[in-house]
Amino acid sequence: MMEKSFVMLKPDTVQRRLMGKVISRFEEKGLQIVAAKMLHISPELAQEHYQEHSAKPFFSNLVDYITSSAVMAMVIKGDDCISIIRKMVGATNPKEADLGTVRGDYALDTGRNIIHASDSPQSAQREIYLFFQDDEICDYSMPDEDLIYE
Ligand SMILES: Nc1ncnc2c1ncn2[C@@H]1O[C@H](COP(=O)(O)OP(=O)(O)O)[C@@H](O)[C@H]1O
Ligand SMILES: [Mg+2]
Repeated sequence: MMEKSFVMLKPDTVQRRLMGKVISRFEEKGLQIVAAKMLHISPELAQEHYQEHSAKPFFSNLVDYITSSAVMAMVIKGDDCISIIRKMVGATNPKEADLGTVRGDYALDTGRNIIHASDSPQSAQREIYLFFQDDEICDYSMPDEDLIYE
């Protein structure tokens, strides 16, 4: 099923100049970036985005981390892309993430795991509209769609 996922390159990805490498992986897979912007997340938005973790001991460190500098927020589109992107991102703890995944290849610490991706269609819907307005999401076709999809 054609889906959209919310993906965010966290401050460490921006600071380490890894944005291009990570974005290239999604492009090379055949996925389509339909929205993208740089922003500095406010504490309020961070708390809302990570509300499911508000009672966890790492919550305040997580909010500090995600608000520490600019992030790149994206909406990525593709067939079954929510689960595919989670696989490409790898386990939450980069030490357990398989090599070949973004976290497995570029990170070492759970508290600096460089990327966020929606974990279900419900989260994707919620997260996309926390960060983007409808008119910021571009629907456009690609000339090679017949080479990517049967
Ligand atoms: N034990 C932990 N210690 C520090 N930070 C954590 C821990 N667990 C999760 N986090 C942070 O909170 C984010 C959200 O956690 P979670 O939703 O469980 O992982 P994921 O990002 O893989 O969906 C993680 O990406 C990570 O930045
Ligand atoms: Mg999560």
